[in-house]
Amino acid sequence: MDLAATAALLGVSVEDVDRVHRLAGDLPSAPPPDRADAPALLERLAVRPDDAAEIMEGWPDPGSPLWTPELRWLLDRSTALVRADLGGGGWLVPGPELPRERGPAFRHLYVYGYLALIDVVRGYHRDHGVPDAVSWATLADLGRNLAVDRRMNREGWPVMQSWLTLHVRGAVYELGRLQFHRGGTTLDLHIPESGPLTPEAIDASLDRARAFFPRHFPGEDHTAFGCGSWLLDPQLLDYLPEDSNIARFQRRFELEPYEEPEGIDADVEVLRFVFRTLTTPLDRLPRDTVLQRALVDHLKAGRHWRWRRGRFPV
Ligand SMILES: CC(C)(COP(=O)(O)OP(=O)(O)OC[C@H]1O[C@@H](n2cnc3c(N)ncnc32)[C@H](O)[C@@H]1OP(=O)(O)O)[C@@H](O)C(=O)NCCC(=O)NCCS
Repeated sequence: MDLAATAALLGVSVEDVDRVHRLAGDLPSAPPPDRADAPALLERLAVRPDDAAEIMEGWPDPGSPLWTPELRWLLDRSTALVRADLGGGGWLVPGPELPRERGPAFRHLYVYGYLALIDVVRGYHRDHGVPDAVSWATLADLGRNLAVDRRMNREGWPVMQSWLTLHVRGAVYELGRLQFHRGGTTLDLHIPESGPLTPEAIDASLDRARAFFPRHFPGEDHTAFGCGSWLLDPQLLDYLPEDSNIARFQRRFELEPYEEPEGIDADVEVLRFVFRTLTTPLDRLPRDTVLQRALVDHLKAGRHWRWRRGRFPV
């Protein structure tokens, strides 16, 4: 195979294509579901009608003119690469960032990969006795991410395409308010945008995790809950009331000493998670809530936010 030609036709670097080629080798892939099954599946995965329509428009039917041999190769090999790490809990880049403005096949290639792996991860969930309701609630993060990415004018996708490989590898489980990410002795918490972070909702979610993991992953010894987030920056306490949900969430954790995280700029992450834009000038961001005003005023004063990690015992 001509890596350089493939890269040129995909609009990505040769290094990126070479990485997929090397990592996926000739490992087994998985085919996307039948087109006839797709609408019901997308609905189950909480994909909104506008996103579902685009996904159907670009469906990788055999013979579809949207699907060049290069795109088919990438879909097949990137799916194989993710599948090979079933059960793994590390962040995984499924393949290069594509020029998504080239149409629905480019835009949603990694969504088709996610859909191809639904049966595989459902089998993994079944092997671990994971209840159907947890399995579907977890996998429905696809729809939430696509909707957020649309709000973000598609700026959010490069991170999402890696994040969503965790779901189809059986690494992330949504149990009530929080998502739990297994991988080592620490269960990492992730906070989806799904309403306020009330202490009661968190307590209930933590309790579910305390029962869920020993039961479904008995070989794993989870000693702590951990979290890495903009939400754990103590500088927020200079602005937020003590009884705010964020302040109360922070108080659960013992912070690790601050280390500049590799590849994460907390100033960018607050824009991502709170304003859902990475490019709007500070002066044009909304100032409706105490948090929004705090985030912007802090940055305008030339100060920076920090991505902090913390933990507490299970
Ligand atoms: C985390 C989250 C659920 C907290 O929301 P919450 O429970 O309402 O938080 P608090 O009670 O501490 O809110 C305190 C203030 O900040 C505001 N606020 C909190 N989150 C906000 C958000 N995402 N956008 C705008 N304002 C927000 C609240 O409205 C409140 O201000 P007000 O009194 O002027 O109305 C929310 O920020 C969210 O959904 N974020 C996106 C997901 C995320 O960041 N995940 C972590 C990724 S690392």
